[in-house]
Amino acid sequence: MSKLSLAVDVAGLRMRNPVMNAAGVLGMSPPILKRVYDSGAGAVVTKSVGPAPRTGHGNPTLVQLSCGALNAMGLPNPGADYYADEIRKLKRMGVPTVASFFGGSVQEFAEVARKLTGAGADALELNASCPNVAEELGMLASDACNVEKVTAAVKDETDLPVFVKLSPNVTDIKAVARAAEQGGADAITAANTLLGIAIDVGFRRPVLTNVTGGLSGPAAKPVALRCVWEVSQAVEVPVIGCGGVATWEDAVEYLLAGASAVQVGTAVTAHGFKVFGDIAEGLERYMAENGFTRVEEVVGLAHEAGRDQKSKADKCSIRV
Ligand code: DHB
Repeated sequence: MSKLSLAVDVAGLRMRNPVMNAAGVLGMSPPILKRVYDSGAGAVVTKSVGPAPRTGHGNPTLVQLSCGALNAMGLPNPGADYYADEIRKLKRMGVPTVASFFGGSVQEFAEVARKLTGAGADALELNASCPNVAEELGMLASDACNVEKVTAAVKDETDLPVFVKLSPNVTDIKAVARAAEQGGADAITAANTLLGIAIDVGFRRPVLTNVTGGLSGPAAKPVALRCVWEVSQAVEVPVIGCGGVATWEDAVEYLLAGASAVQVGTAVTAHGFKVFGDIAEGLERYMAENGFTRVEEVVGLAHEAGRDQKSKADKCSIRV
């Protein structure tokens, strides 16, 4: 009988297990990302890097809610030139690194991708979906045509695997995922945060300076899980699940829905760094107890039952 292994190869990114951090949550300093890796993650994802330094929005940029968190940082980052050196440091520390990035135009996306590739990143995650900045920087993902163009331009600049991170704030995420795949995406990350708002009743005004923000955490999980379910049926490339993953059960749900790996964001603030190792260990136990030896055997397993259930449900809902 073959030995159980958590190791996965997601579109060419080899990881000792399928658990990463989500872009953004832990910032971008190499020692913090090294700590994510040392705490048991299979690879780390940087905060999104752009073509030039940005300070982002003024405070408050984060609101804790009972169901998760709402944030509008405004893509603060030190710029690709500075960050290229930080990626080199991470690589010297032996950390498999996914560089998340954005741009304000097709050319800028391509330019940043070239710099991060030169710095030695192992994969790129194209942030096509920041909800908190002006249209040209942020909600690229609502336009399938743009997603295809940007993805194709980035793929022209790099030989690295390119993950395209999509927004859940669209009518049909399948169409956007297909456009990314058409542009050459090697994997799809589903999904970024949900657009939300919080209002201070005392001051009678929105809490965040940006007014709206991205909702993450437990409330986002069913939505992102549905995005993974739909996207994995729409494209051939692997899907990476992101949204409210806090436990190994959450991770298994994402795998069963069709994800080949998961990213953990908001849960790190609640459970600390140990969440990465805890999820990987729980997943290993689940696999052992259920007779799985490879993570890929679990990926998408709920779809068959889903198809049966859906066709029965559809039949029952026919009016007689
Ligand atoms: C920010 C970017 C994101 O992609 C996101 O989901 C939430 C916040 C930001 O920097 O504002």
